[in-house]
Amino acid sequence: MKTEAEAIAPSNIAIVKYWGKRNRELNLPLNPSLSISLNEVWVRSRVIFDESLRDDEVWINNLKLEHREVKDYAGRVLEVFRSMVGRRIFAKVESMTNFPSSAGLASSAAGIASITLASNEALGLNLNTKELSKIARIGSGSACRSLFGGFVKWNAGVLDSGEDSFCEEIVPSNHWPELVDVIAIFSEEKKKVSSRTGMESSALSSSLMKCRLDFIQRTFEEVVDAIRKKDQERFFNLTMRHSNSMHAVILDSWPPFFYLNDKSLQVMRWVYEYGKAAYTFDAGPNPHILVLENNASDVVNFLQDLGAKKVIVSKISDGPRVLK
Ligand code: PMV
Repeated sequence: MKTEAEAIAPSNIAIVKYWGKRNRELNLPLNPSLSISLNEVWVRSRVIFDESLRDDEVWINNLKLEHREVKDYAGRVLEVFRSMVGRRIFAKVESMTNFPSSAGLASSAAGIASITLASNEALGLNLNTKELSKIARIGSGSACRSLFGGFVKWNAGVLDSGEDSFCEEIVPSNHWPELVDVIAIFSEEKKKVSSRTGMESSALSSSLMKCRLDFIQRTFEEVVDAIRKKDQERFFNLTMRHSNSMHAVILDSWPPFFYLNDKSLQVMRWVYEYGKAAYTFDAGPNPHILVLENNASDVVNFLQDLGAKKVIVSKISDGPRVLK
């Protein structure tokens, strides 16, 4: 017996970032986070549950993943679905990205979200998006936010079961249509320290971790308020401070590792001086610059002059969908 479905999901860029877990198996975070789903950066996945398979297989852009990578990410999601239907039925997953999957553009987030949505469809489970966000979270934390469009909050939750650690859309995609994310790819090198390893190391070693959690607690609602009021200045400043706060914790971790490079620092300086945009970086050196559309060309020109290999201007996504 075979059953299959296909879905597409957006990548997301975190404004308030997830860095640190209270439970590794369930990917339960130490702090709530908030992201924007990105329309121009996505992953499309076909999931084929097939009784003749003896194990899960995942292909990304026609390349087969190693057994370990499958087990650690998509395999965790497929395992949840298997236990829900009560059958040891394995799946073949074929994912396509529209951007370099190693460029630190949250390919795992979009990939895991699209696999979660397609699996739900293939198995006819009809779970709602909130439930699906809990399943995607187990595959890769930030993936739970890619189940929604617009501005998305991931509730940290307090329960050991993870039942209260899910996502919700706080503001829809059409709320701030002038806002775009300009993404520059300077480096396509695979990161040496994965976000999973990096955040475990920070939680164990950084003495700034506690300060960062306090900072998030003090400013989370202010970020939400700035978004609701479309208060550019406050939103841009808080976005940069939240990015700095995560990278400060990373710089303070031991043994040392760091994701930003010389280009990232040049971008940070330019954007701050420009005054009408905000930079933010996930676990990689490639910048995301949030700016209003009518100023985007200034940012694009700057990034091209700085030697960006590729620049993507993305609007806010409406969210993932099943492809018929
Ligand atoms: O979901 P993970 O394990 O890839 O963690 C990603 C964490 C950051 O991208 C660095 C921040 C975030 O909130 O997306």
